[in-house]
Amino acid sequence: MKFVLGGNWKLQINTIEDTITTLRDMTSKFGTQQIDGVEIFLALPFTLLSLAKEELKGSTIQLAAQNVASTEKGAYTGEVSVESLVELDVEYVLVGHSERRIIFGEKGPELNKKMKLLLEHNLKPVYCVGETAQQRQSGLFDEVISQQLAEGFEGITEDALSEIIIAYEPVWAINNPELNPGIEIQAATPEQAIDAHKFIRSWFVTNYSDDAASRLIIQYGGSMKPSNAETLLSQSDINGGLIGGASLRSETLGPIVDIAVKLLS
Ligand code: PGA
Repeated sequence: MKFVLGGNWKLQINTIEDTITTLRDMTSKFGTQQIDGVEIFLALPFTLLSLAKEELKGSTIQLAAQNVASTEKGAYTGEVSVESLVELDVEYVLVGHSERRIIFGEKGPELNKKMKLLLEHNLKPVYCVGETAQQRQSGLFDEVISQQLAEGFEGITEDALSEIIIAYEPVWAINNPELNPGIEIQAATPEQAIDAHKFIRSWFVTNYSDDAASRLIIQYGGSMKPSNAETLLSQSDINGGLIGGASLRSETLGPIVDIAVKLLS
């Protein structure tokens, strides 16, 4: 068994000073020793990756990016290339986070290009999927998730699956009022999360193989915090977390790391 815990800083920690303070605090508390079976990554804003690369030298915390351009290079104002992420020793890259899909209008075919580009450059995509509250209420869960998976994985071989993580993040559980107007945001119950993770894994059984599906890391994301991490992470189909708000401070990320360690022992 293995857990991958990913922190998604979004646009929440944005200065050099805050980044240094936060990373030093985190590395001193849970980033100095390799923990068997627990991988940790932090997805920082692009402009802080270079600094974080230096700060995380010698640490077990891995570096991640929140996005990447879908094209290698060219006249694409405002984009960030895969090549530059490789130079920054980035390990994981989020692809298709709901904030990218919904607020910035990123679509399946573009996300598929990003997945392939990352794999070509030996970076690991964290492919995010999730339904909105309205889609769930309308009984569209299966359809939405299947479509997101089919689009993202178009042309991706079974061999590549070991390099990819799936993050299931129900949009209604992501602590983002802009994505969830008028909705009371709360984490999925363990039952809701288990059902979704089983559905995702079965999609991989159907479209790849039993073996590939059973080895796939599927993170849960959406309001994961110390108070609910144990019930979520103790479910056999949940192999980690993609953590937003609770990843901004060692006081909240540390206890989640401790829970993962405890569950492995
Ligand atoms: P949250 O964000 O933990 O703040 O809900 C999770 C995410 O969007 O990745």
